[in-house]
Amino acid sequence: MPAATYPALRLRRTRAAPWSRAMVAETSLSPSDLIWPLFIAEGGGVEEPIASLPGVSRWSVDLIAARAKEARALGIPCIALFPNTPQGLRSEDAREALNPDNLICRAVKAAKDAAPEVGVLTDVALDPYTSHGHDGIVDPFGYVLNDETSAVLADQALVQADAGADIIAPSDMMDGRVGAIRGALEEAGHVNVQIMAYAAKYASAFYGPFRDAVGSRGLLKGDKKTYQMDPANALEALREVALDLAEGADTVMVKPGLPYLDIVRRVKERFEVPVFAYQVSGEYAMIEAAAAAGAGDRDALVLETLMAFKRAGCAGVLTYHAPLAARLLASR
Ligand code: PBG
Repeated sequence: MPAATYPALRLRRTRAAPWSRAMVAETSLSPSDLIWPLFIAEGGGVEEPIASLPGVSRWSVDLIAARAKEARALGIPCIALFPNTPQGLRSEDAREALNPDNLICRAVKAAKDAAPEVGVLTDVALDPYTSHGHDGIVDPFGYVLNDETSAVLADQALVQADAGADIIAPSDMMDGRVGAIRGALEEAGHVNVQIMAYAAKYASAFYGPFRDAVGSRGLLKGDKKTYQMDPANALEALREVALDLAEGADTVMVKPGLPYLDIVRRVKERFEVPVFAYQVSGEYAMIEAAAAAGAGDRDALVLETLMAFKRAGCAGVLTYHAPLAARLLASR
C-alpha cells in the first residue's frame, strides 16, 4: 500500500487541540523523573546564595532536612548531596572524605531522618576535600593516581553508606573504581546500596558554577583531562558504560546533559539499562542567563529541555531546576 500523502495525510490534525496533543504525546515528564542536587554548608540556619548559580544556595544541615521534606512534598524521589568542605579541612590526601562525622554524612543522616521516603544520592570523588581540587590523589607531578585513588574512594563510599546513603555515585572517572566500591559495599553488608556510575563523564567547560558551589574552583590546578572523557569521543563512552556495568553499577549516568544526548541515546539502545543524565551547573546557568536577558521564558525552557532528556531515553535527570519543574508539572 502506498504511504498516505497530503491531503489524506495532514500531520497537523493531531496537533489541532490540547486534548489531542496530550493523547498522542510519545514522551511524558513527571516529578518522579527528577533528582535534585543540593549543596551543603557548615553551620546552622545558613543559606548561602551561589553567585554563578542564581537561585541556588548552599544550605546548612538543618535546612537540608527541610529541603528533603520539600522534595517529598513535590514528589521528587531523590536528592543528591554535595558538601562545601571548610577550606581548613581540605588536604593533599582528602582525609576529611573518610571522617564519618563530616558534612556530607551529617547531611545524609539529617535528610534520611527528616524524609526517609526520599532517596539520598552521594557523590564519590575527592574534589570537595582536596587542597588541589582534583578528584583523586595526585603524584608529585600533579597526575591523578588511579589505583591509589580507587582504594580511597571505596572507603569514602563505605563512610557514606554507613551514614545512610541509598545511592553511591562515583563521579571521579578512575578505572576500576566501581568494582572496588561494589566489593567494599558487599563485604560490609550494604547489599542494597545502589551504584549510579558517572560512567560517561566528559572534561567539560560546563562545570564552573558547581566548582564555585563546592569551593574547589580557585584550588584546581590544571584541568581534569587525564581522567574525564574527551568531548570528541562516543565509542569510548560505550566502553566506559560496559566497564561500569560489568563491575556492578546498577544504573549509569551521562554528563553533561543536553550537549551529550547522542550519548544517552546510544547507551540506552546498546545496554538497555536505566540511563540518567546530569543537566549540569553551566547548563542551568545558561538557562537562567537566557531568561534574565529576555531571550526565552524560563519555565518553558526548563520543561522543554527536561522533556528532551526523556525523549532521548533518560530514566531521569539530575537538575538544579528540579523544584521549579516539579511545581510547574503539578500546576498543569
Ligand atoms: C565532582 C563533580 C563535578 C560535578 C559533579 N561532581 C565537577 C567536576 O567534575 O569538576 C559537576 C556538576 C555540575 O557542574 O553541576 N567530581
